[in-house]
Amino acid sequence: MDITYADDIRPKFRDQDIACMRGRRVLLAESTWMCDPAAGHGFADHANARRVFGALTREFGFMPPDGKWSQDWLDTYKAWMDGGFQPGSPASNGGSGTSSGTGTGDSPGTGTATGGTTSGANPTTGSDKEDI
Ligand code: HEM
Repeated sequence: MDITYADDIRPKFRDQDIACMRGRRVLLAESTWMCDPAAGHGFADHANARRVFGALTREFGFMPPDGKWSQDWLDTYKAWMDGGFQPGSPASNGGSGTSSGTGTGDSPGTGTATGGTTSGANPTTGSDKEDI
């Protein structure tokens, strides 16, 4: 099964993790930051996510400071990295779990919510964000 940032990683960060780290420009809650493929900090690619993993696994110190992640969570994070840092569906869905089932595993992200009728009261006309 696919492990995605949106489904499997983002929910593991608590509000205080996000708040504490945002001040240090570690944007745990930002899919684009976490899934950024750019190199840096001694890593050849996906430096942000790898640096976070380093913190979680104590390579660079112990994060979060009040209690290490379980091995299960670390394994999930590792599997997410090994699986290609999939962002998954945007968190803007609210996450109230409507029918994410019947997924065949392929095509992460682009599955649900196709013919989006944008007839809502959205003043911004050109909402053509079609990333992923
Ligand atoms: C899952 C939770 C967390 C993750 C993944 C995380 C990740 C990281 C990372 C990657 C760094 C290194 C930043 C750098 O290279 O400059 C870092 C440093 C730091 N984090 Fe976190 N953090 C978490 C939770 C927290 C929390 C809850 C706090 C505040 C209570 C916190 C406070 C700090 C501080 C003070 C540093 C700097 C440590 C130093 O420079 O020695 N972090 N964290």
